[in-house]
Amino acid sequence: MRLLLLNGPNLNLLGQREPGLYGHQTLEQIEGELSQRAAAAGVQLDCFQSNFEGALVERVHQAIGEVDGILLNAGAYTHTSIALRDALLGVAIPYVELHLSNTHAREPFRHNSFLADRAVGVVSGFGPFSYDLAFDGLLNHLRRAAA
Ligand code: DQA
Repeated sequence: MRLLLLNGPNLNLLGQREPGLYGHQTLEQIEGELSQRAAAAGVQLDCFQSNFEGALVERVHQAIGEVDGILLNAGAYTHTSIALRDALLGVAIPYVELHLSNTHAREPFRHNSFLADRAVGVVSGFGPFSYDLAFDGLLNHLRRAAA
């Protein structure tokens, strides 16, 4: 099993970015811990972060035939990007949308997601633990689908 962890704009600043909202862990730490967890579960995890919408779209395209599922914190592109939605639907790879913060408890413009209605599921509000929950949820979904 191979999964792709995609992080969108400004998530490279985790650790220093609004720690009251997003916590103190860096993206490197989150990726490192999740990679260990993945290895223990026999899963290969590829990690990619970009601040550029087109780079994220291209990374999704590259995933065709390479990965079984995508874990995605698209950051602000969650609320704006039809291009990312189209890429995810175009490659038809199951994905889970995740957020560190509870986007529904924040500004109204964060309540809309262009990705959520076609996701396997959405995890929002558990800080860095959202990544673990999304990983478990996607793995469980894929293993059940393969059984
Ligand atoms: C975020 C929530 C988004 O609304 C915001 O633009 C982010 C981070 C989260 O993980 O809580 O960049 O995706």
